[in-house]
Amino acid sequence: MASPPSLLAGRAVVVTAGGTREPIDPIRYLGNRSSGRMGNALAVAAAERGAVVTLVTTAAAPVRPDVEVVTVETAAAMSAAVRAALPGAAALIMAAAVADHRPAQVSAQKLKKRETLTLELVPTVDILRSLIGDPLREGLFTVGFAAETEDMVANASRKLVEKQLDLIVLNDVSRADVGMGSDDNEVTVIDAGGVVAAIARRPKQLVAAALLDLIETRLLPDGRPR
Ligand code: CTP
Repeated sequence: MASPPSLLAGRAVVVTAGGTREPIDPIRYLGNRSSGRMGNALAVAAAERGAVVTLVTTAAAPVRPDVEVVTVETAAAMSAAVRAALPGAAALIMAAAVADHRPAQVSAQKLKKRETLTLELVPTVDILRSLIGDPLREGLFTVGFAAETEDMVANASRKLVEKQLDLIVLNDVSRADVGMGSDDNEVTVIDAGGVVAAIARRPKQLVAAALLDLIETRLLPDGRPR
């Protein structure tokens, strides 16, 4: 028997992927180890279910031709691209590792070698926080990722509350065999009531499918959050 159509079919889904890069000078940036593979896998898996997907990414990896890809570098550019894609969307999945700080000044010239170099860093926009109370968030199912190395469930739960998320996907980034830079992932999914699922180590495509299954159980037939 054919499986019932996905609740995501025909719904707009916005996924972010990769690690933002905050410029220091014309050739240098502050970055992180995120490869974009988890976000890409989520974008592909959502498109396979018939969702209309916008992937806002720093990693120009090939995805399905029916996924709209918006390539960005900085947290500010990612924020603008997410906001542009959100009107009418049913879900936002923030898998990107967004820089928390950026150099206060971007040097127009390449910085020269010197004994010590001090960079002044200032906060970037917190994309998820900036959406709290914004009309763009109304009826939007919002999923964050938490990259943690210690007190993992407590830290992720705090982020879920502070960023007013429906779900948060906890990654242990101290492990080399899963998560950032790896083909596999192993995650714990948390909602306001606590841990709802532990997805054991598997390829990121399969983690993406399991996460979308979980998201679908929490959407109403019209795509709104329950
Ligand atoms: N995030 C965001 N904007 C930022 C930083 C993070 O929207 N400037 C999102 C990430 O995409 C992720 C979630 O917030 O979905 C949690 O990101 P994480 O880096 O784990 O948490 P931070 O809020 O940055 O807290 P900390 O770095 O102190 O752990």
